[in-house]
Amino acid sequence: LDNSLALTPQMGFNDWNAYGCNVSESLIESTALAMHNNGMQAAGYQYVNIDDCWMTKSRDSAGRLVPDPAKFPDGISGTAAYVHSLGLKLGIYEDAGTATCAGYPGSLGHETTDANSFASWGVDYLKYDNCNNQGISAKTRYTTMRDALSATGRPILFSLCNWGQENVWTWGAGVGNSWRTTGDINASFGSMLSIFHSNVGLASYAGRGGWNDPDMLEVGNGMSATEDRSEFSLWAEMAAPLISGTNIANASATTLGILTNSRVIAVDQDSLGKQGTEVSSSGGLDVLAKPLANGDVAVALFNENSGTATISTTVGAIGKSGASSYTLTDLWTGATSTTTNTISASVPGHGTVMFRVAGGTSSGGGSVTGAVHAVGAG
Ligand code: DGJ
Repeated sequence: LDNSLALTPQMGFNDWNAYGCNVSESLIESTALAMHNNGMQAAGYQYVNIDDCWMTKSRDSAGRLVPDPAKFPDGISGTAAYVHSLGLKLGIYEDAGTATCAGYPGSLGHETTDANSFASWGVDYLKYDNCNNQGISAKTRYTTMRDALSATGRPILFSLCNWGQENVWTWGAGVGNSWRTTGDINASFGSMLSIFHSNVGLASYAGRGGWNDPDMLEVGNGMSATEDRSEFSLWAEMAAPLISGTNIANASATTLGILTNSRVIAVDQDSLGKQGTEVSSSGGLDVLAKPLANGDVAVALFNENSGTATISTTVGAIGKSGASSYTLTDLWTGATSTTTNTISASVPGHGTVMFRVAGGTSSGGGSVTGAVHAVGAG
């Protein structure tokens, strides 16, 4: 969406994966403070996002949404003021139907009123869900909210959550800054793997201002550390929004170390804005390559199987040529090595090894331009 937002994939937190309906002002504010103090904000995490269940079951007499006063004693505006005071931004959740998935009032037919509420409260991001949609076309419903947000004059990142329906990737870039490509993730390797398979082939639809969204991160929520590193590696390789869904205030050092790995985040946030593609995939051993703005290529060697395996590719296969030797930086260990051709690693079961490959020229590289998707409301 050409609203100057999400020129690189958005980074932040959302409460749904760890807390479900148990959202509150104290949770959002304590999470924001933790992000401010634990290195996440410095690593690029910017949005602190409220999911479903923040409002009362009915609108007020003027037809406006009402924050639940028990959960949000200072309202959304008070919560936004606190989050903004830390230098972070506030996101909120609504639904493009008659009710949210949890049964709270939806925005269908109330788009202007609700967009105006969000803007007046100081909201910076809207995740827009798809329950109770009355069978009306998603493109129509989401476009109405796009225009209502635009009319407020406040920059509000618009995150489409219609679970990949109606091939949203084919029209999402004109309507939103990101679009969910699948149903909901859960904290299991199988769920993460199936979402990866659905999302990885959609690279041609992604670019600056509009991203494929394989759902929020489950890092820290129950997968092994090896699996968590795979999710973070693959999401970065696919230029996905990096929205942590874990208990940030109580996150382990391992979880925080994964979420704040600056070398992997730099791959996700690279200004060229290209989603990585699968160079090869055979027997559950996958090689992905993502061209980067400075001509480097980020390579992920992902082992879907449970036993350790050697995964190999070549500099030519990832689109590089023209040098007698290339430098490989292992993005998880920081170790560097050189190669003349082969890029290879022993990868533990369910694990991912990531290299940044420098040297020569890259067929997928290029200079940075403006938003790829100059479509839709301004
Ligand atoms: C479905 C969405 O896909 C989830 O991410 C979450 O927002 C829930 N709805 C909330 O009801």
